[in-house]
Amino acid sequence: MSTYDIVSIPKSSLVFEQTVALLEESWPHCYPEKVARQTMEQLIETGIFLVALQGSVLLGMIGAQPQYGKTGWELHPLAVDVNHRFKGIGKALVKALEHAVSNAGGIVMYLGTDDAFDQTSLADSDLFDRPFEKIKAIKNKANHPYTFYEKCGYTIVGVIPDANGFHRPDIIMAKRIAFQSS
Ligand SMILES: CC(C)(COP(=O)(O)OP(=O)(O)OC[C@H]1O[C@@H](n2cnc3c(N)ncnc32)[C@H](O)[C@@H]1OP(=O)(O)O)[C@@H](O)C(=O)NCCC(=O)NCCS
Repeated sequence: MSTYDIVSIPKSSLVFEQTVALLEESWPHCYPEKVARQTMEQLIETGIFLVALQGSVLLGMIGAQPQYGKTGWELHPLAVDVNHRFKGIGKALVKALEHAVSNAGGIVMYLGTDDAFDQTSLADSDLFDRPFEKIKAIKNKANHPYTFYEKCGYTIVGVIPDANGFHRPDIIMAKRIAFQSS
């Protein structure tokens, strides 16, 4: 694959329109067109937003917002164009975002990755019963992205049982991205 750049973009650009489309396409049940546009505009205004570009073509995007002063940031959204997955772009975007967030004072990055479609063993039973045991024994049944995040250094630190319906949890993951100087 030829090279690409990871950069930030202004709101008024052709690439911005591609990011709105990628957000809608990746989470059609959450982002009708108008909501997708507002979400992307707000992210560029108040958070950090980066795109992977090959020329003027969008390959992927990632963003984060500060949620606990400037120390704790929520990673969302992350999406790679379906034709360019499994080529290392997602991992490169996460790394670039962590660098930018750490420079902005971030210490921890966290995210929720839903299991709304029975992709992991966490959807098999009631997570109010022995949640930590079940998290420890988690199995990926159908390419759930928690494995991707583990490969980027993130740890499952909890779940929100039933967040997307009965036995449809949100899986909460986090990573320390800055270290205390001794
Ligand atoms: C999840 C996503 C961002 C990954 O992007 P990507 O560019 O394909 O990922 P990479 O190529 O950088 O993968 C890095 C590693 O994770 C693995 N990986 C990637 N997606 C995976 C998945 N769904 N399940 C299991 N492993 C996965 C890769 O095999 C690779 O492993 P390796 O380092 O051992 O070779 C992409 O699949 C996507 O956009 N999905 C739809 C939107 C989404 O689910 N976003 C996250 C929601 S929280």
